[in-house]
Amino acid sequence: MKNKFSDVTISRNPLPKRSAEEIKELVDKLMSKMTLAEKIGQMYEIGHSSSAITGPEFDSNQTVQRIKDGLAGSVLGMYDNNVIYALQKCAVEDSRLGIPLLFCNDIIHGCRTMFPHNLAMSCTWEPNLIYEASKVSAYESSHSGVNLTFSPMLDLVRDPRWGRVMESSGEDPYLASVMAKAYVEGYQQDLLSYDSVASCAKHFVGYGAALAGREYNTVDISKRALHQYYLPSFKSAIDSGTKMVMTAFNVVNDVPMTANKEMLRDVLRNQLGFKGVVISDFTSSMEITHHKIAKDMKEVAKKCVIAGLDHEMISTSYIDYLEELVKEKAVDPKLIDEACHRVLTLKYELGLFDNPYKNVYFDFENYWLGEAAKASSLKVALESAVLLKNEKNALPLKQNEKIALIGPLAKSKEVVGAWGGKCNVNDSSVLYDALVEEGHDVSYAYGCDYNSSDKSHFAEALEVAGAADTIVLAIGEQQHMSGEANARSNIKLPGVQEELINELKKLGKKLIVVLFTGRPLDLTGVIDQIDGLLCAWFLGTQSGIALEKLLYGKANPSGKLTMTFPYTVGQVPIFYNNLNTGRPLNKVYFDHYTTRYLDIPNTPLFPFGFGLSYSKFEYSNLRVSKKTLSPNEKIIVSVDVKNVSKVAGKEIVELYIEATCFSVSRPNLELKGFKKIELDIAQTETIEFEIDQQMLAYYNIDMQNITEPGLYNIYVGPSSIDLLKETIESVN
Ligand code: BGC
Repeated sequence: MKNKFSDVTISRNPLPKRSAEEIKELVDKLMSKMTLAEKIGQMYEIGHSSSAITGPEFDSNQTVQRIKDGLAGSVLGMYDNNVIYALQKCAVEDSRLGIPLLFCNDIIHGCRTMFPHNLAMSCTWEPNLIYEASKVSAYESSHSGVNLTFSPMLDLVRDPRWGRVMESSGEDPYLASVMAKAYVEGYQQDLLSYDSVASCAKHFVGYGAALAGREYNTVDISKRALHQYYLPSFKSAIDSGTKMVMTAFNVVNDVPMTANKEMLRDVLRNQLGFKGVVISDFTSSMEITHHKIAKDMKEVAKKCVIAGLDHEMISTSYIDYLEELVKEKAVDPKLIDEACHRVLTLKYELGLFDNPYKNVYFDFENYWLGEAAKASSLKVALESAVLLKNEKNALPLKQNEKIALIGPLAKSKEVVGAWGGKCNVNDSSVLYDALVEEGHDVSYAYGCDYNSSDKSHFAEALEVAGAADTIVLAIGEQQHMSGEANARSNIKLPGVQEELINELKKLGKKLIVVLFTGRPLDLTGVIDQIDGLLCAWFLGTQSGIALEKLLYGKANPSGKLTMTFPYTVGQVPIFYNNLNTGRPLNKVYFDHYTTRYLDIPNTPLFPFGFGLSYSKFEYSNLRVSKKTLSPNEKIIVSVDVKNVSKVAGKEIVELYIEATCFSVSRPNLELKGFKKIELDIAQTETIEFEIDQQMLAYYNIDMQNITEPGLYNIYVGPSSIDLLKETIESVN
């Protein structure tokens, strides 16, 4: 891109570190000079015509004028550093007080070097990798004009019909909390450095519980579920220092989150202790009129500011009506002071007052796709893929096997997933190319489109497959079938891909599926036809290279599912940490009258925590250091894990608990710890976990998060359905 400001030199001098008190003083002083309108201006995130728009159209004509008038505090979705520079210059030089803008963007799983999508990354069960990916994303985006990223997405997800499951860390609150910390720390290492960005935890809260998986749908979460399952990842992000929180589109307790005073003031501020900026989602403030709790935009402004919304994204209710509302005494000006104070504090914390152009780089492309960044992306990709089936050691493939590589994703560069940041799919390594480059004996056929009824390419695929030893099918969803506004009611392989599998299987050859997807899919109809199944998700820039290594055993799969693959969509929502029923399946009191379906099992196709490896691990000798747990004590749980195969590999060891009797019904299993280990051939390692009473706590009948005395089962194993058991007693 041509630099329109070639004579401009931007300083990269170290930015002054200030204490919270010093920043407060500076903000107070600045605010004493601000008009009410200027304060309200800091509460507005403006869009720009060249920004990535994910929602309804908006009018961008007034952008520059608004900035000059001091009526915008931040800008959404800009990547062009020339424009960013020009807009910032306009704010700093042409507005009355010269307050810099904050540039925000969606850097969700990479800026230019793309990492696997977030659900895939969570399957590494490795916070260090998430930290590393976030650090690389922060580096590339902080050199591309971005001051703050709208990440991490912390929605707990239990319904694969919902398109945005690919942005999350899956169905477990503990795992998601560990990952939340890694994201925030990776992005925000040092806000004053030139390599970090501020983070925004989203979407507060409950968006992932959209009924029936339909995008933006109503949510109905009990208070206990909210605190037990949906809030912990936000608590973790807040404790890790996230600077912003974004409100969700949905209702909680029938009040849209963007105007939900109880959730924003009582829960987010008072209970979770959040001190940063609360921003709305894209036009979610205006949307409260559609939720029918505000009759017009004036009421939108009033309800949202009273509820605790500091910063309004795209909709203009604040800049249009807040001043009037204050004059009418319908809104306390203190609320505006507080919100404006938080926004300005963040700008000081980021060093924007000292260097408003700190993240502007006219040569930003030079900071993208560095060798180290690509190496990180490959490392994460190798550990994100999940081996779901491997009948008779169908995988790894042998060097001399004659392969027919078939399917719409075999030669596709579209292997990034939604929210591609600044990605260019031409950077992606392609599976077919990677196989050819490594000298494998591979022929290719298209097979079919990922989502059409056209079977005209089947004949060619059958012919190519007929001449090979092994069929490798690269199939699944197209990358934009998941992500925002991409809910599906049917989560089978789209188009005629199932038929393609069935036709090819008739050749009687070994059939491997490399599954590209943003969500768990219903594979029950074809699973018996498949000998080897590698869930590739969308692995990002290094996809092809990573898959070649995994398919040929140069790398050993180690990922495990963080979201259940249902048997059919009829089981959805299905998740491992469910409650028992009064008539559990394994206790047949009433013969027919037990919890089940007439037509399908209760168990999923692939459970939470499940993933195979080319190694085989044996778990034995689960033991506890003592049987009784008193307050302020710890019990050590140990297990021996042995690699009983001829391949070295990584294993994720999972720790679950079960409260056998509590004042409220608790899940059959609750994940409380995990460790990823690497075992050489025949190596045994003793893995230890510490258990204290805090780990056994749950929101009890009085909504206190406590450990009630009683018996607790402790489970350790390779997945949520393959566990060794011990029992301890917790006493007061
Ligand atoms: C999404 C957010 C995103 C925002 C800004 C919205 O449509 O829900 O996740 O951060 O757009 O791009």
